[in-house]
Amino acid sequence: MATQILPSVDNRHRKDFGPTTCPERLLLGPGPSNADPVVLKALSQSPIGHLDPFYVDLMSEVQELLRYVWQTDNRLTLPMSGTGSAAMEATLANVVEPGDKVLIAIKGYFGHRLADMAGRYKANVFSIQKDWGQAFSLDEIEEALKEYRPAVFAIVHAETSTGVCQPMNGIGDLCRKYDCLLLVDTVTSLGAVPLYLDEWKIDLAYSCSQKGLSCPPGLGPFTMNERAEDKMNKRKGKVPNWYLDVSLLNKYWGSDRVYHHTAPVNMNFGIREALRLLAEEGLDSSWSRHKNNSQLLWDGLENIGLELHVKKDLRLPTLTTVKIPKGVDGKAFTKYLLDNYGIEVGVGLGDLSGKVWRIGLMGYNSNSKNVHKILDIFKTELPKFRV
Ligand SMILES: Cc1ncc(COP(=O)(O)O)c(C=O)c1O
Repeated sequence: MATQILPSVDNRHRKDFGPTTCPERLLLGPGPSNADPVVLKALSQSPIGHLDPFYVDLMSEVQELLRYVWQTDNRLTLPMSGTGSAAMEATLANVVEPGDKVLIAIKGYFGHRLADMAGRYKANVFSIQKDWGQAFSLDEIEEALKEYRPAVFAIVHAETSTGVCQPMNGIGDLCRKYDCLLLVDTVTSLGAVPLYLDEWKIDLAYSCSQKGLSCPPGLGPFTMNERAEDKMNKRKGKVPNWYLDVSLLNKYWGSDRVYHHTAPVNMNFGIREALRLLAEEGLDSSWSRHKNNSQLLWDGLENIGLELHVKKDLRLPTLTTVKIPKGVDGKAFTKYLLDNYGIEVGVGLGDLSGKVWRIGLMGYNSNSKNVHKILDIFKTELPKFRV
């Protein structure tokens, strides 16, 4: 056999960057939040096979604990390999058929993302809109359901771009009355803000690993109930996204345990540990912890003369939007916090760009020590930025 002559290796991109060492950061922005060190330890174990009997048991444990944090009995509950957006896309990809009417309640950045995604799955997309900082009333939702008669109604529970927590009571009943599926974004609420999937008659939901669950980003918890499953099973065509097709994924996550894709096993070690810690703390304790720490933050910010963007009864415990005072360069201040204190605070997105800071207190980071720290820094450093 003739020897193959190989070209010489092109070394132009061979750079000596040195080992990866991350700066220490306190992540008090819109996410990710710092992961619990116990979770990081679990995550750093050597990978095992994604069909190893130990791993298969771990998968079932993750599913069971996700049912606990979501307060649901849904069989089809699993972490999508990917971030929250992958799970978001999975909810739409599995139930939306071309031409289906999908109604999105938009009151912030992530409502727009839902509408964009639904359109890509060829839905007939309609929306109702509110100013960024407000929530929808039941009457507004009922009126829209009556007018559009959608197959799916989607709404964000915890809008990270605005700091609004959408009241959920009664929305599920309306969706049953008008015979549509209720799809809810719980990315910034899962584990941290009261959420009762079955009680609230939510048919499909998704979340992320990097906020209330105190785990790094990389998994997107997903769940659907029998109503949603029924719509998926009656589809005329295949789910137009192979990777996110729940009927295929369930052959791996269900009892068959058939290979679908190589699971990110370490991420699942991490989320299993994060969920275990949350179960140990108890959901109600975690919810109260988030509520108490956010109250401490809100009082402290108001005491130093800052104004909050959202009225009190709609405020989200995990994410607070603070109005940037007139004359202050909001971006320069967040850069200063990062450069001098290693603290990340978010700036506004979309309609709130340049108008607010976004302070997150999520999962592991929701504690009074962090609240006092950020308040002290605002108190001493912000005056330097006022003109
Ligand atoms: C409300 C909401 N939905 C969806 C997403 C998308 O999640 P990810 O960035 O993990 O893909 C985010 C991200 O922060 C979010 O806050």
